[in-house]
Amino acid sequence: MPHLAATRAALLRAADLARPNPACALLVGAGSVHDLPLAQLMDRFERIVLLDIAFGVEARRMTKRWPKRLHLCRHDVTGIVDWLARHRRLPPAEMLIRPVLPLLEIKPDWVASVNCLTQLPLLPLNYLADKVSDESALETFGRTLIQGHLRWLQAWRAPICLISEVEDRHFDRHGVLADSSDYRDLLQGFTAGAACVGRWPWQIHPPGELADGRHETRIVEAWCV
Ligand SMILES: C[S@@+](CC[C@H](N)C(=O)[O-])C[C@H]1O[C@@H](n2cnc3c(N)ncnc32)[C@H](O)[C@@H]1O
Repeated sequence: MPHLAATRAALLRAADLARPNPACALLVGAGSVHDLPLAQLMDRFERIVLLDIAFGVEARRMTKRWPKRLHLCRHDVTGIVDWLARHRRLPPAEMLIRPVLPLLEIKPDWVASVNCLTQLPLLPLNYLADKVSDESALETFGRTLIQGHLRWLQAWRAPICLISEVEDRHFDRHGVLADSSDYRDLLQGFTAGAACVGRWPWQIHPPGELADGRHETRIVEAWCV
């Protein structure tokens, strides 16, 4: 799939541009490893930590194959999923302010957040569905989680690669743009002065996949911060 290949290529470009120490790389949102060029990254880093809230079979299989070099770290980067599962209400602001980093054996020399930024609000918002009806409070909460992840990345004090969709375009059956969302304003402070090392369209729902002939394309960008 072109999006997966584009993600892999952007990660390698970003790693080569950042030229970090080769001891350890941390890959965030790495639960299914589909979009990760692990073999090529293992040529560049002695140890790779895959971080996600949940891991698929392939990620587990890979770490069994290279137990000394590939490690899994199960961690919720928002820090509030367990709390929401119990309380089912909007969390107090102070819970969202301080980034909670997992304890790793080695501090990473390079951190990449891979196609997970805009996914982060999904599970939390799911816990609040039917419990919180204030749409604008929910939207603010979702934006806070996204901005919290950017602070979380910066808290490692290492070169960062961020790969994320930045725009969502919905088309009608005639190929006319019906509506779109743009997330770039959320990234502005984070990407100021950073290098964009990739931009590509991701046809997440090609024509024929949605009802009424509608289709959807996302624009993805890769940044070296
Ligand atoms: C669209 S997938 C990204 C694909 C992925 N980069 C891969 O390995 O192919 C989004 C990922 O974000 C992870 N994720 C969602 N919420 C998370 C959270 N709160 N903390 C850590 N990972 C999370 C999901 O489990 C999923 O693996």
